[in-house]
This record gives sequence, structure tokens and C-alpha cells, in this order.
Amino acid sequence: MSAEPLISKCPSVCIVTGASRGLGRAFTLALAKILHKDSIFVLMARSVNLLQEVKNELIKDVSKSPSHVIIVEFDQKKVVGKEFVENLFTQILQPQLSSAMGTADYDTCLILHNAGTLGDPKKKAVELTDVEEIKNYFNINLNGLIVFNAMCLRELFANTKNRFLVNISSLAGIQAFKCLSSYCTGKAARDMFFKVLAIEEPSIRVLNYAPGPVDTDMQTYLRENISDAESKEKMKELVEQGNLLKAEDSAQKLVEILCRNTFTSGDHVDYFD
Ligand SMILES: NC(=O)c1ccc[n+]([C@@H]2O[C@H](COP(=O)([O-])OP(=O)(O)OC[C@H]3O[C@@H](n4cnc5c(N)ncnc54)[C@H](OP(=O)(O)O)[C@@H]3O)[C@@H](O)[C@H]2O)c1
Repeated sequence: MSAEPLISKCPSVCIVTGASRGLGRAFTLALAKILHKDSIFVLMARSVNLLQEVKNELIKDVSKSPSHVIIVEFDQKKVVGKEFVENLFTQILQPQLSSAMGTADYDTCLILHNAGTLGDPKKKAVELTDVEEIKNYFNINLNGLIVFNAMCLRELFANTKNRFLVNISSLAGIQAFKCLSSYCTGKAARDMFFKVLAIEEPSIRVLNYAPGPVDTDMQTYLRENISDAESKEKMKELVEQGNLLKAEDSAQKLVEILCRNTFTSGDHVDYFD
């Protein structure tokens, strides 16, 4: 029996949301090293220029680069609009993917739901009185993800043999943190959404991956803006003691988990597990 991991055995279609920077960029580059060389990457985020930079890195080494890298301008909160979704799938994703795939078989797909925002870390739960702000948060981080995920499975990967879904979760999905009520709630809801999906669809491999505290724009913004003094101090200590992870290290850990493929579908797996 071949020791090659299932995920790299045959060409994949790999969709990464929030691929423009931070963890999404690192996940993309790490996955490109292990996926089959004839794989197709679909990189999605709002910043097309940054996606282009990630694409340039992916194709720098021709011998190792995926066969196609597609860039899609994407704002996850807009996925809650019917017209936007229809356009995204019928005018952009389906035609670009079928042109990249040609007549070849793609038996594997991986959707990495990484795009995410923090909410306002200056506000405690009792200060959340603006319903538009709350709706906007959950449209990006939960509602948009649910619809995008379902549409991908239905419109792009209904007949794909090996399907992997990764939800980028957080410790905040299973532990409460002050001034992060929207963030914690969104992450907890995403975890549960994917747990349900995992039991409904036993043929899909579903992973909720918590990447640990990682040195990215989000982490910096949080440290500089969180209004809870004790949390701020703890975050400063993380930096001073050199305990913030590099995005590449957390990405490598995710790749190892996917290659081993021994996780229970729907589980929440942390970098430190
Ligand atoms: N850093 C950490 O310590 C940490 C810890 C636990 C979990 N996480 C999770 O890891 C994921 C990535 O975080 P990060 O630290 O890399 O954050 P980041 O540096 O702020 O990057 C966030 C990514 O999400 C994209 N994004 C933001 N809003 C979007 C929208 N409306 N539509 C589509 N894409 C959007 C951004 O791209 P554009 O701005 O170009 O759209 C960017 O690529 C998030 O889900 C986060 O919750 C991070």
C-alpha cells in the first residue's frame, strides 16, 4: 500500500478564503508543497493585489507550482445576497474552474474557510447595541460562510470523491474571552455548524482547526485595541516571551494533520493538541 497521503494522491481543487495575507497566505503556500502538482488553487479575498502576490509566490518555482492558480475578488459578507452568489458561481467560479480542469479528473477537493474578522475588541457584550454592526459581523463570519460552503459543495463538488472541509476555528470557539463576544460566538457557531455537517455527510472529511496565537495583522490589531486591561497585558506577554506562533508553523501543523488524516470528522483540533 502506498504511504502517500490521500490528500496529495491525485490532483485537487483547493479553495482558500482570506488567502491574501496572514494565515490564509501561509496555508496556501504550505498546501502547495504537499498537494499533487496538477492541482488547481482558487485564492479568494477582497485585496486582489495581495492575492496576486501570493499567486506570484506559488508559481515562482515552476517545477513545484500548481497547474492553475485562480484569483477571485471576494467579500464573504456579500454571499448573503442571492444575485451576488449566482454571479459568483455561474459567471466566475464554474467557468474558470471548468476551463482550468479541461477534461482531466479531479478526485479531491479542499475548501479552507479561513477568511475572518475580529469584531470590535473595544466593546463588551453589553455595549453591542448596533444591530447593523452585529449583522455585518455575522454576515462575514458565519452566514456568508454557510452559504458559500453549501454552494461550493452543491455547484462545484457534488460528485468529487474525496472532499475535505477545513474551518479555521480558534480557542475562542471553545473558551470565553472578554471583549470578544462576537468573535467567540461566531467561532463557536462555525464549529457546531461543521460538527453537524460532519455527521450528516460521513463521506466528507471535516476539520475545525484552531491555529494557536499567530503573529498576523489580526493578532496585532487585537493586542493594540482590546479594551480589557488584563487581556492586553497577557497578549503583550505573549510577544515579549516569544510565544506568538509564526503563520508558517501553524500552517505546517495543519498540513500534517490533513496528511495523517486520522482526525475524527467534525472534531476541533488545536495547534497545541
Ligand atoms: N492570528 C491568530 O492568532 C488567530 C488565532 C485563531 C484563529 N485565527 C483565525 O484565522 C483566520 C485568519 O486570521 P489571520 O490572523 O490571518 O487574520 P488577518 O491577518 O486579519 O487576515 C484575515 C484574512 O481574511 C480576509 N478577509 C477579511 N474580511 C473578509 C471578507 N469580508 N471577505 C473575504 N475575506 C475577508 C482578509 O483578506 P482581505 O482583507 O484581502 O479581504 C485576510 O486574507 C481567521 O479566521 C481568524 O479568526 C487567527
